[in-house]
Amino acid sequence: MNYKTVKFIEWFEDYRHDFEAGRITVRGLARKAFNELAMWDNYDTARTFTRRQLGVLSTERKHFIETKPPIMTMSESVKVGLKWPDSEANTREPFILVPPNFVGVMKIGLISDVHIPFHHIGAIEAAIGYFLKHEIDTLILNGDIIDCYELSEHDKSLDRPDTVEELMRLRQFLAEVRSLFPKARIVYKLGNHEDRWRRRLLKNAPEIAKVLEMEMGGFYGFKQLTRLDDFGIELVSEPVAIKVHDLNILHGHELGSGGGVNPARWLYLNAGASTIVGHFHRISSHSESSINDNSVRTYSTGCMCDLSPDYRPFAFKKWRHGFAMIKVDGPRWTVWNKEIEGGEVLE
Ligand SMILES: [Fe+2]
Ligand SMILES: [Fe+2]
Repeated sequence: MNYKTVKFIEWFEDYRHDFEAGRITVRGLARKAFNELAMWDNYDTARTFTRRQLGVLSTERKHFIETKPPIMTMSESVKVGLKWPDSEANTREPFILVPPNFVGVMKIGLISDVHIPFHHIGAIEAAIGYFLKHEIDTLILNGDIIDCYELSEHDKSLDRPDTVEELMRLRQFLAEVRSLFPKARIVYKLGNHEDRWRRRLLKNAPEIAKVLEMEMGGFYGFKQLTRLDDFGIELVSEPVAIKVHDLNILHGHELGSGGGVNPARWLYLNAGASTIVGHFHRISSHSESSINDNSVRTYSTGCMCDLSPDYRPFAFKKWRHGFAMIKVDGPRWTVWNKEIEGGEVLE
């Protein structure tokens, strides 16, 4: 029995009575376990673990269900007890970077689509130089930081760096970023390219994926292999928004494919709320108000990668190097959607 199981069983004793009486669901228990035991990186992993453990304990619960009538209480709504099957519906919580009651000033740098090992060093230098000059205190790595080229389902050249080499270069990149911003809060949100790690594992080796997730968590061991804890970098592996007040930060793939003629306009139509994404490698901004005069602002940021990759040699026609800077002042936020050309950040 591993330490997580031992810890869980000890902890469960406090809730056993409520669980057996049907006052707490498996889902509710998983939520509490996730918050109180702090043994998992995300709620879904905690839920899977909890369900597995309760499977072990379910004989007693089944017995209870068979021998006692369901509890019915009348309040504002009618609650009928214990016989609903467990639900697999997802409960997703956003990652709150800036809480609603925030007081003070925060300067957030945001880059995405570095696509290591196809990164553009000039673009990275320009963005990082800008962040140093403006003394950011928070850095968001907004997805597609590593390409996961070998894990792609597309055709591949045989002479490109393999997955091990990519991971080494990603570690080197993260170490460099951490050394340049020793005190900054750094958050790494995964994009569709990092998701190739999960997809390849689940498709080709689901048994190993299960072991990795069970024993290591951290997006099937990705967090440990990239040494995020050593670098003090937080991981957002769930497809949820990073919240800066009402501004949502997404990689972009979470909303489905698209982008259209103007990614920011597409984003406005698909998110319906102030949002910033990478993913499209194109720079665009859009703002509209509702008839209640609530401003909605949407942005797509540029990339930090090769603008002429093997699979799209003329990508540079539309792709742009760029990044964003977000300044938070109390309850307000402002976004600067910056473009880089020739190694210079344009005004
Ligand atoms: Fe990308
Ligand atoms: Fe992407």
